[in-house]
Amino acid sequence: MTANTIDANKRMNKFDGHASVWLFGYGSLIYKADFPYLERRPASIAGWTRRFWQGSHDHRGTPDAPGRVVTIIREAGAICHGMAYLVTPEEFAHLDYREKNGYLRLCTEMTFDDGGSVEGLVYIATEDNKAFLGQASELDIARHIAKAAGPSGPNSDYLNHLARALRELGKHDPHVFAIEQHLQQLNSGKQ
Ligand code: BEZ
Repeated sequence: MTANTIDANKRMNKFDGHASVWLFGYGSLIYKADFPYLERRPASIAGWTRRFWQGSHDHRGTPDAPGRVVTIIREAGAICHGMAYLVTPEEFAHLDYREKNGYLRLCTEMTFDDGGSVEGLVYIATEDNKAFLGQASELDIARHIAKAAGPSGPNSDYLNHLARALRELGKHDPHVFAIEQHLQQLNSGKQ
């Protein structure tokens, strides 16, 4: 799949004609909503787990030295916690551009922490996209993040903001928190 997903996302017409659509955020969308929204509610999606397996060429790295950012991977029994936003369909043009480096819109069921569920969209980077980096140990991911930076800033800021946002939501994510801990130890010279 091409690295630029804008055209593929424009063809995603499942919610055409809807006045508003729920969008599930599991990465930077949890802490950075740089778009207007009608409602924001903590939520989760079942059967998916968050992983720092996607390369970032345009935000937290460069084409020559990509950073590592999150995508979600199918895992039976897993629950991925995040934040749901109710947005008007026009917002997707902005989001498609912001997340053009490999992320496709996917239809998903999301469950609100305070009850109820709804069908909406999530952006996902699958392993067939050109920027996908895949699995590595959490220590190696922390080493990678420690060195990477791009137009949106240091890769470590992305990790730290995400970990803080998850903590503020009261959610434990062993993968994110393990990488955060490795990074802290690397920065203090203990690893
Ligand atoms: C998110 O935070 O849900 C998100 C992650 C990657 C691309 C788009 C959105």
